[in-house]
Amino acid sequence: MNQPKYLYDRKGPWPQPSPSHPFGEAPAVVHIPKDEQRTWFWNIGFRYIRNILFYWPKAVWKAWQNPTWEILDDDVFCDQIYTTPLAKFLNPTIDPDLQEIFEAQLAEKDRDSTYFVADFRCMQNVVPFKGMYVASTAVLMSKHKDESKLKIHAIYIFETKLLLLPTDGQAWDLAKNFAMMGATYRILLSTHPILHFPFDTVNAITKTALPVDNTVFKLLYPHFQFTLTLNDSVLESKSSPVYNDQKYPFTGFCGPQDGLLTLLESGYAGIEGNSSYPKFKWDIYPTEVFSDYNVYLMEYYQAFKRFTDGVVKNIPSDEIQDIKIWADYISDWLPGFPNGEKIMEGDLLSGCLAKIMWDLSVAHATDHHSYGTIPINRLPLRMRVPPPSSKKDTFNVKDQAKFIDVFKYALEWKLFFNDHTVTKLIDVDYKFQTPELQKLQTNFLQDLELVDLHMPVKKYMDLNEISISIQF
Ligand SMILES: [Fe+2]
Repeated sequence: MNQPKYLYDRKGPWPQPSPSHPFGEAPAVVHIPKDEQRTWFWNIGFRYIRNILFYWPKAVWKAWQNPTWEILDDDVFCDQIYTTPLAKFLNPTIDPDLQEIFEAQLAEKDRDSTYFVADFRCMQNVVPFKGMYVASTAVLMSKHKDESKLKIHAIYIFETKLLLLPTDGQAWDLAKNFAMMGATYRILLSTHPILHFPFDTVNAITKTALPVDNTVFKLLYPHFQFTLTLNDSVLESKSSPVYNDQKYPFTGFCGPQDGLLTLLESGYAGIEGNSSYPKFKWDIYPTEVFSDYNVYLMEYYQAFKRFTDGVVKNIPSDEIQDIKIWADYISDWLPGFPNGEKIMEGDLLSGCLAKIMWDLSVAHATDHHSYGTIPINRLPLRMRVPPPSSKKDTFNVKDQAKFIDVFKYALEWKLFFNDHTVTKLIDVDYKFQTPELQKLQTNFLQDLELVDLHMPVKKYMDLNEISISIQF
């Protein structure tokens, strides 16, 4: 009998407790094969260097044109949340402490509207640099059943214990910008990282523990391209956005790394007693978003699921034992991932595979792309005026930021927040050997095109631009 072949002779990458936050962040993969590092550098790392060298004049131009943050009209504020991935923050569960804070507004509830809070208490442990300010906020919004837009009712600022209403003049405007700053940090450093880091465990274990001929290996391998090195450099490199070393021109966050890492922790370990920040638990289904974004994401998820349902039915029985071992290894590291005993029950394996492939391609790429459509002056990254402490507070719009703040942000946006697809989902080739599986691949690609063509809501990203893996 032929010996099974492994990608790295079983000496490949493996998860371990995260070096920076062993108990608060997803397991990390820090020992990465040299050839994966080289491939990442020539396809992605090199682009960072090129962008620093050639994009800075454009960043200067952007900052020079508008060196502060826009004051967002209430409708613009609501639209910016409802029509982008920031809609992930709409939580229909209003916890008792927030019910108390918004008591007066909730007492006048409109029966035909759903009420949401967007909670930005993930900001509570972010320590700003001298001259800058941070605030933890919670925003009360609602959506009428016949409308596809939000209405904003109130913003609470925890540090100054102040509840602001749309009638509160400049103090209200300032509260909106602190809330939008919270949304910016939460998407970049708390919510979006959940699409990245827990999947490194699956990436490393699949490459190391599954034979290269295993159908699960073939199915997942193309979706792992570039990612281990990318994620490791985000978490561990001294020049990463999270390290935020001010000697680099692209470091736009408002404080040192220690505070910023607490945002990652709020996304993975959660915040005790706050339903907006649940602890990470593996689920085969995407987390529900209360906007059209959910429809867009689910249309794609279902296409992946139809494909994996077919693939799983075609897995030869002699591959099952290795898949069970693979599931056991992953479940040791990822809370809630089905172990070897459970993985073949019902459609768990198919659901896990669909979730992994969907996350690493559509869900991740669209988050970046749609965020990238929001003008940077509408997403404050640093505030140089304090949050309001009374309803009478006033401020000068220009004092909110300096040229350097917008410049650093513009460069950082180009390097790390905007999408740069190197290899496309639509070009995927699983290198299946049997005609049945090859046919399923063909059907899957056609299915993706149909999803793109008949998307019943806004096309948050064109299929043709979606990357096959996490590569930005
Ligand atoms: Fe990303």
